[in-house]
Amino acid sequence: MRFSGHSFIAACLVQAAHGTIATSLHIHAHIRREDYIDGTGYNTQNAQTINVPLNRNATSEQIWKAPSNIDPNILVPRTSLVASAFSFGGGPKGTIDGGPFTGRTAGGGTRNEIYGTARYGSGHGSYNSSIDGITQYYPILNLNVSGRDFPHGFPPLSFGNYSGGSYYYDVDKSEFAGVHDSPNFVDGSNGQSIGRIWSLELPVSNRTWVIISDLATLETINAVIALPIPQGGCNLFGQLPLPTKAKTASVWYNDTTIPDGDTVGYSPYTLPNNARRKPYYIYPWNVLQFYRGSSVALASVEYNNAFARNGNNNTDYWASTLLNTTDVDTNFLDCLNHTIAATIPIVDPTLIVHSRLSGSQVAGIAVGSFVAINLILVGACCFFCKKRNRTQEKKTSPTHPTPSGEQDRNKKKVQQNKPS
Ligand SMILES: *[C@@H]1O[C@H](CO)[C@@H](O)[C@H](O)[C@H]1NC(C)=O
Ligand SMILES: *[C@@H]1O[C@H](CO)[C@@H](O)[C@H](O)[C@H]1NC(C)=O
Ligand SMILES: *[C@@H]1O[C@H](CO)[C@@H](O)[C@H](O)[C@H]1NC(C)=O
Ligand SMILES: *[C@@H]1O[C@H](CO)[C@@H](O)[C@H](O)[C@H]1NC(C)=O
Ligand SMILES: *[C@@H]1O[C@H](CO)[C@@H](O)[C@H](O)[C@H]1NC(C)=O
Ligand SMILES: *[C@@H]1O[C@H](CO)[C@@H](O)[C@H](O)[C@H]1NC(C)=O
Repeated sequence: MRFSGHSFIAACLVQAAHGTIATSLHIHAHIRREDYIDGTGYNTQNAQTINVPLNRNATSEQIWKAPSNIDPNILVPRTSLVASAFSFGGGPKGTIDGGPFTGRTAGGGTRNEIYGTARYGSGHGSYNSSIDGITQYYPILNLNVSGRDFPHGFPPLSFGNYSGGSYYYDVDKSEFAGVHDSPNFVDGSNGQSIGRIWSLELPVSNRTWVIISDLATLETINAVIALPIPQGGCNLFGQLPLPTKAKTASVWYNDTTIPDGDTVGYSPYTLPNNARRKPYYIYPWNVLQFYRGSSVALASVEYNNAFARNGNNNTDYWASTLLNTTDVDTNFLDCLNHTIAATIPIVDPTLIVHSRLSGSQVAGIAVGSFVAINLILVGACCFFCKKRNRTQEKKTSPTHPTPSGEQDRNKKKVQQNKPS
């Protein structure tokens, strides 16, 4: 895409005029992708059999490969695996080398298994290769998330002690894929670092759908659903992923039954200094659909899945209360559901971290995915952004410690190790 000076300025003014437009334009990745992500030569043999609609129009737009650095390629900590949007998945597993998830495997999962159900813990399975090299998927219909491997590269969300998820609640956020700092939210209300679970609110007619996941995943979803429908999006423009605050149900509800009291829910912060929270929390019983081994959830506060309550002893993997679709824009809901499934990053066997860093040094690098909402204008603005970032990096990066200092350090390491 080429723009003259005038159309470039006009495009950016249009963007500014929208006011609430959320962009990550000024963070930019501290690491240039080509420094450390490389192709593996892996051939996605099963591509033809992937049965989830892959939003080909969105991929064919080249929006992820445009020269604006918006590829949300995500490093899986303590492995050399890379997750990418629209990937078919598959390929060999890697073993997590160090940290709280030592010895668990990541990767191997395909997009065919991207959907779970409305129940937390769903969407998980194991992939085993037979001697003749054929990989077989075995779904695991047990909803307890403790001790799991991460076939798509992302550990499950955590609702506190709910359904075996307490371990994931306590682990440091640097151990999770897709967790990186946002320029829009630096510190929590008490000056604490913002946690790993973010939210994306999507108000459509009479409903607000809420997606919760890691930030990089939400940025990706957000960018794709902002595309017009013929380009593979859902035509919903201009949201901003928000960090969340966690609270147990017993604190939030007066009438919570005792078994639910321990369950942790998430409320989005408001803009921009995190002083306030939205007046609701998302608990497991508000979730309509889990994806990617329960690491992404599509929810609505109006939805109350009776089967997800702790007091309910029905362990049926598929059981859920029917959504009341009166006044619900079901076309949008379907678009959202299918676009999330097609888009969300999963381990991509065609990519690998190409560096001489040890596993522990690689840990914690999350590629600052550079996703702007207004994809049409990104091309116009990227020249400017790149220029500005270069200037800023020159000015500040050697002396100015940032929340992504870990990334800066790793960047230097990568560069040192680069053969000259
Ligand atoms: C999980 O339960 C234990 C024991 O009751 C408690 O100490 C801990 O705070 C709970 N964790 C969360 C995240 O609520
Ligand atoms: C994708 O693009 C083609 C060509 O522009 C169009 O015919 C098709 O309807 C689009 N697909 C969707 C799902 O909108
Ligand atoms: C999302 O789509 C999948 C596959 O079409 C379907 O099984 C599931 O019920 C849908 N979820 C919702 C909340 O519509
Ligand atoms: C489920 O809970 C109810 C009420 O507490 C009890 O009567 C019933 O036997 C339980 N069912 C199972 C399968 O545990
Ligand atoms: C569904 O929602 C509508 C409007 O909110 C309400 O009038 C109706 O009673 C609900 N239906 C059921 C079965 O709850
Ligand atoms: C929103 O709700 C109102 C009142 O319940 C209803 O009249 C209207 O049709 C709804 N809008 C949509 C898009 O469903």
